[in-house]
Amino acid sequence: MALIGDDIDHARRVLNDGGLVGIPTETVYGLAANAFNSAAIGKIFAVKNRPAFDPLITHVGSLEDLKPLVTEIPSSAKNLIESFWPGPLTVVLPKSNQIIDLITSGLPTAAFRLPRHKLLQELLSGLDFPIVAPSANPFGYVSPTSAEHVNQQLGDKIDYILDGGNCNIGIESTIIGFIDDQPIVLRLGGLPIEDIEKVVGKVKISTKISSNPAVPGMQESHYSPSKKVVLGNIENLIDLYGTEKIGILSFTKKYAAYPNFVLSKEASLTEAAVNLFSGLRWFETQDIDIIITEKVSNKGLGKAINDRLTRASTK
Ligand code: TXA
Ligand code: MG
Repeated sequence: MALIGDDIDHARRVLNDGGLVGIPTETVYGLAANAFNSAAIGKIFAVKNRPAFDPLITHVGSLEDLKPLVTEIPSSAKNLIESFWPGPLTVVLPKSNQIIDLITSGLPTAAFRLPRHKLLQELLSGLDFPIVAPSANPFGYVSPTSAEHVNQQLGDKIDYILDGGNCNIGIESTIIGFIDDQPIVLRLGGLPIEDIEKVVGKVKISTKISSNPAVPGMQESHYSPSKKVVLGNIENLIDLYGTEKIGILSFTKKYAAYPNFVLSKEASLTEAAVNLFSGLRWFETQDIDIIITEKVSNKGLGKAINDRLTRASTK
């Protein structure tokens, strides 16, 4: 198992030496490497079992650090960055030649994010390079929202896990690309569409490109636990699957007769997002074969939660 702690100096040394560090962010834990070290980045793909065609997000410590990494920042991107950085927003921009092809899977654009987590900001401010960090889970599996989640799956393959507590958003960043100056949402996430539209007006959402191997975060099947997930009306599904070993992941209602994880008793979407991935993981410890679940209200963070539930239930 990896060493876990909150020693920023140690994390910095590991990254400097080309090692991998599990890092806390406000969305999910990441698996970080020096963005200027191709051998270190190669290890990320190996450890995650991630296909080389899935591009990585580069994390910067400040807007100043972003500038040399891109050739252009369209004005709508600038507006979004000013409004939501640091935070759960990733922007896809034309890359400069400082961003190596390994990061972008050969694409001419690269994804960037300035995270809000204090410990990570402290780490980034002491580095003289940006870090690339995908979510710290094996490819296709549910993202980690605690240091323990990272340790369970990748602990024996990485050098250090920087423990910054539980993620307080719990769902990956919202990814936005730009065609000319037009923002296009490529992945629903921790920044609700409604907030984005207050800044740049109506945006296009284009998250269903399962056939596009350039952006597998959008593959139809993703974020899946090892157990089968069935999404629908819980009462109907209990009738349908009642003779099998089922567990229930519900939004607000308690189902005492089954292993049951309630996302938010108070029907808070913020709380449901925080609990979503630990809820899906909890069923791995239960003697069940099928997770029955339902959509939450489709507004605010609910859209991203429903997106993850849909992908988790697609095989
Ligand atoms: O919240 C997050 O974004 C977390 C934390 C650790 O920052 N990171 C994360 O990374 O979710 P990852 O690798 O699991 O997802 C990154 C996704 C890729 O799968 C791809 O869909 C998209 O970012 N992406 C990266 N570069 C892109 C590009 N040039 N064009 C379009 N999409 C891109
Ligand atoms: Mg991921």
